[in-house]
Amino acid sequence: MKNFIFHNPVRIVFGKEIIPTLSSYMARNEKVLLLYGKGSILNNGIYDQVTQSLKQAGITWKDFAGIKPNPTLSQVRSAIAICRQENIKAVVAVGGGSVIDAGKAIAAGACFDGDVWDGFLKKISWPQALPLYVVLTISATGSEMNSAAVVTNEETQAKMSFYSPGTFPKVSFLDPTLQYTLPEKQTIYGAMDMMAHVLEFYFNGTPDTDVQDYFSEGLMKTIMKHLDIVLNHPKNYESRAQLVWAGTLALNGLNAAGRDKGDFSSHRIGHALSACYDLPHAETLSIVMPAWMRYVYKQDIPQFARFAREVFGLQGSENDLASKGVQAFQDWVRKLGLPLSCVDVGIRMDAIPSLANNPSIPFPLGTLKPMQSEDVESILRLSNY
Ligand code: NZQ
Ligand code: ZN
Repeated sequence: MKNFIFHNPVRIVFGKEIIPTLSSYMARNEKVLLLYGKGSILNNGIYDQVTQSLKQAGITWKDFAGIKPNPTLSQVRSAIAICRQENIKAVVAVGGGSVIDAGKAIAAGACFDGDVWDGFLKKISWPQALPLYVVLTISATGSEMNSAAVVTNEETQAKMSFYSPGTFPKVSFLDPTLQYTLPEKQTIYGAMDMMAHVLEFYFNGTPDTDVQDYFSEGLMKTIMKHLDIVLNHPKNYESRAQLVWAGTLALNGLNAAGRDKGDFSSHRIGHALSACYDLPHAETLSIVMPAWMRYVYKQDIPQFARFAREVFGLQGSENDLASKGVQAFQDWVRKLGLPLSCVDVGIRMDAIPSLANNPSIPFPLGTLKPMQSEDVESILRLSNY
C-alpha cells in the first residue's frame, strides 16, 4: 500500500425529509446564489423545498438557472460577476455534477480577482472560496463529496478540472427520494459513471491493495445489483439509497487512499469527446472505457482476472479470465443500451487524430500504461471494432 493522507471535510446529511434542515447549517440573514440546471427542480418540487428552508432562516437568494450538462466557462463567468455585484456570501447548488461543479468554480472564482479559467490551467490554486452547500438530485459524479470541478471552455474546446482544498462542499444533502423523477437514461448514466470512478483506481497498477480492491468490488456489485432494481422500480427507496451512497463513496477519496492517483485515461479521453461533441459524460465513458481496457489489460493480467472472478463470478485460467472480464464489462454496458463506439454517436473516423490531441488530454496519459496521442487514437479506433 502506498503512503497517503486522507482528509475529507464534507458533512453529509443523508436520508428522507432532510431538505427542511438545509438552512440550519447556513449563516442566517445572508444572500446566497441559488444555482440549478435547466428546470427539473422547478417541476419536481425540489426548488420549493429548498427555498422554503432558506426563507425560514431569513436567507435571501438570487436564482442562477440554466446550468447545462457539461457546464461551460461562460456560464461560470457570468455567475461570478453576479456574485460580485450582489455581494453573495454563499452558493447553494441544487442538481447533479454539472451544477455542483459550476458551483465550485463560481465559489472559488468569486473570491479571486483574476480569471477563473487560470485555476483550471493550474496556474493558481484556490485557498479560498465562498461556502458551497449541495442538494444532490442525481447520483453519478461524487462531486457532492470531493473538491473537483469539471468545466468546458467552449472557445478552446477544452474540458478541464481543478481540485482544491477550498472547494469541498461544506454540507451535502443526499435524499434518495429526490432521484425518483430521474429519467431512466440519467439513472443509467449515473451508474456508468460510478463504475468508471471505481475502475479508474482499481486498474491504476498499484500492487498490494487488498482492502481497496474488496471495497471497490463491493461498490461495483452494489451498483450493478441496485441499478437493476431501480430500473424496474424507480421509487424503491432502499435501492436508490444504495446507489446514492455507492456513488458518493466511489469518488470521495476513500477508494483512492493507499493507491495514489487514479489512471483516469478513460475520463480524460472522454472529456475530449464531450468538449468537441457535447456528449453526456457517461456516454463518453461507455465508448472509451471498454476499449481502453482491451488496449491495456495485458499490463496487469492478475488484476483483470480478479475483476472477472470477484465482480462477474467468472472462472478459468488467469489469461482467459482477464480478457473475459473485459468482455463481461462491455456486455454490461451494451445491455444498458449505452453507446460503445465513436460511430454509435456519429463521430467520424477522420476526426480521431484531432480528438487525440485535444487540450483536455494531458500527456503522458494514465498510470497503468502511460500513453501518448497515438495510443489514444488506437483506443478510439478500437472502440469501433
Ligand atoms: O438540468 P436539469 O433540468 O436539472 O436536468 C438534469 C440534467 O439534464 C437532469 N436531472 C438531474 N436531477 C434530476 C434530473 N432530472 C429529473 N429529476 C432529477 N432529480 O439530469 C441531467 C444531467 O445532469 P448533470 O448534472 O449533467 O449530471 P451528472 O451528475 O452526471 O454530471 C455530469 C457532469 O459532471 C462532471 C462531468 O464531466 C459532467 O460535466 N464530472 C464531475 C466530476 C467531479 N466533480 O468529481 C467527476 C466526474 O468524472 C465528471 O467528470
Ligand atoms: Zn466520471
